[in-house]
Amino acid sequence: MKKQFIAGNWKMNLTLEEARGLARKLCDGLAGFDAVDVGVFPSFVYLKDVCDIFSDSNVFVGAQNMSMEQCGAFTGEVSGAMLRDIGCTHVIIGHSERRTIYQETNSMINSKLKASLLNNLNPILCVGERQEERDADKTREVVEDQLSGGLLNLTSEEVKGLTIAYEPVWAIGTGKTATPEQANEVHAFIRNTMRSKYDDDTAQSIRIQYGGSVNAGNAKELLGQPEIDGALVGGASLDPNSFLDIVSDAASFS
Ligand code: PGA
Repeated sequence: MKKQFIAGNWKMNLTLEEARGLARKLCDGLAGFDAVDVGVFPSFVYLKDVCDIFSDSNVFVGAQNMSMEQCGAFTGEVSGAMLRDIGCTHVIIGHSERRTIYQETNSMINSKLKASLLNNLNPILCVGERQEERDADKTREVVEDQLSGGLLNLTSEEVKGLTIAYEPVWAIGTGKTATPEQANEVHAFIRNTMRSKYDDDTAQSIRIQYGGSVNAGNAKELLGQPEIDGALVGGASLDPNSFLDIVSDAASFS
């Protein structure tokens, strides 16, 4: 069994004091705990403070997005080197909110993935279909396209140990979760796609998180599925007790 990976995507929420408070509670609650990999993804402006709070812990801190460029005249952007410089180890790439609201394409996501690897950051690549695509029975096609475009020209060495988050767009922030069977089926498809693009070793080294309305009430059932290696949690990650409950559910499957 792989070590589960539970990530909290704080999105554009919290004040600085709230972000520090949440980080301190998680830091206390997870002291000495390493049965599960845990990461938090605060807003850019709180990253340094949160990195400092977790500096002596096992908890990873990462950004929700990054620039595909290395440095220079890119007003408003944040580079991988900057994230690394302040202590980040991870970055979320291609979240559906970036794809749909900010028109990020598979080719941009591919450039961001390459930039993250170049800067020694561990990416979480998000994929997932919209409701109308599921209704039209296009889930596999969409996910396959996101994987092919997102991972274009990446070698198996670069992809080894990658985290992929399967987040059906219709389940994000809606309270509608995929059933454990629905999620497991797409996870198995992602694993098989990685096996045919790369090899069995690479496919097995990849952790596939489920995301979309995961909470303390449904986590256990989802995480118990054989192809689910963790969760990317939005709303429920803002409440320390819910998030810690999800982490402890994951520990029984690590
Ligand atoms: P949610 O968000 O848990 O609030 O649905 C998940 C995500 O967007 O990563």
